[in-house]
Amino acid sequence: MEHDAPAIDLISPAAFRHGHPWDQYAWLRANAPVYRHPQEGTDGFWAITTYDDVRTVSRQPKLFSSAAKGPMLGDPSPEELAPNLQMMLFMDPPIHDRFKLLVSRGFTPKNAQLLAGRIDELSKEIVDDVIERGECDLVADVAGRLPSGLIAELMGIPRADGERLYELTEIMHTTDDSVHSVEERMQAVLEMLTYAAGVVAAKRANPGDDIASALVHAEIDGDRLTDGELQFFFLLLVNAGGDTTRNLVAAGMQQLFDHPAERARLQADLDGLLPTAVEEMLRYTSPVANFQRTVMADTTLHGVDLKAGDRVAVFYGSANRDEAVFAEPDRFDVGRNPNPHVAFGAGGPHLCLGLHVARIEIASMFRELLVRIPDMAPAGDPELLASSFIAGVKRMPVQWSAPVRSAAR
Ligand code: HEM
Repeated sequence: MEHDAPAIDLISPAAFRHGHPWDQYAWLRANAPVYRHPQEGTDGFWAITTYDDVRTVSRQPKLFSSAAKGPMLGDPSPEELAPNLQMMLFMDPPIHDRFKLLVSRGFTPKNAQLLAGRIDELSKEIVDDVIERGECDLVADVAGRLPSGLIAELMGIPRADGERLYELTEIMHTTDDSVHSVEERMQAVLEMLTYAAGVVAAKRANPGDDIASALVHAEIDGDRLTDGELQFFFLLLVNAGGDTTRNLVAAGMQQLFDHPAERARLQADLDGLLPTAVEEMLRYTSPVANFQRTVMADTTLHGVDLKAGDRVAVFYGSANRDEAVFAEPDRFDVGRNPNPHVAFGAGGPHLCLGLHVARIEIASMFRELLVRIPDMAPAGDPELLASSFIAGVKRMPVQWSAPVRSAAR
């Protein structure tokens, strides 16, 4: 790398104020791909930034544990960690295998496809609600309403409740204490768990045709999920499927604004290019910034000795711009193919459970937006989320020539 070393800070919310710290990622990949990163109140962690290393770590759950210190960047006490161990994201095999077996039926490509019609209706309703206005906040009025509507659908609960759950995830994902205090974040978790307990009880008593009912009654060889496990699974589902998708839709639209030629190309051939454009938005914006693992036995990665007990953090955004894998990685190319990005994880047991649903949601929303509001344009600067965990957009004012009659397609 030619240029001087940038100051390395991959974890303060300020580092993500203008999006992922791409320049730091590039420097680290070239100069220190396994980098000892300080973290206040802890003895630091190893930042893993190349595509190959992110894959290596993700695919060896015995050597790189999610359970030992959890997957969220930090060094929690056993007491802090304990309740979270009920979420599959915090489990290692074989406990994770059992859990995955019980829940994954609801998330197969076939089951995700069954939701496609409902997802298209949701996208249409969302656009119906704003189209006559000629302006809106793309995050609150459009992008955020899709995952909250989908969560309501998956859990068989009222849409308004889905929206409240989604507000809670945003509070929980804030990594800036001045925006939401630790107490507020704890309160949000509690409110969500209480709500989930109600859903579990209601679906046990009166099953519907939603995924929540299927999970409550799922049984394999006499084994089934306990009420506590279900509660935490719903918490994870709302968290994992909420602002990730929202941020992808908002940040993806921002990329189309920033790359007008690519946008024109996509709009001219929506059927042909939408699938690859969705993958490129995932690669280019990488909504989940990082997850951590704990080293379980002394080992070597990229020539660096790691000790048992060390923490490593994989940076998906960096892997997704690795020049060793992606030609011209900083170019946004709606037709990029192949595109083996790791926005949903880099393989291994924790690969995103909702990726089929997410792909359907994202494509549905963009189809609706690009067909019905083809001249959407920025109406001010976007405001980014105060988080170094979720790379996202908090507010994004947009405008278009309205009123446009909602044409039948
Ligand atoms: C753009 C949208 C999304 C992105 C970028 C995303 C990304 C991720 C990533 C990076 C992981 C961790 C992978 C790993 O550790 O190897 C993950 C896990 C997970 N995601 Fe997603 N996700 C998205 C949407 C969704 C949706 C819509 C749902 C549910 C409906 C969902 C449910 C989950 C669950 C349950 C896990 C934990 C899986 C496990 O631990 O085995 N995600 N996701």
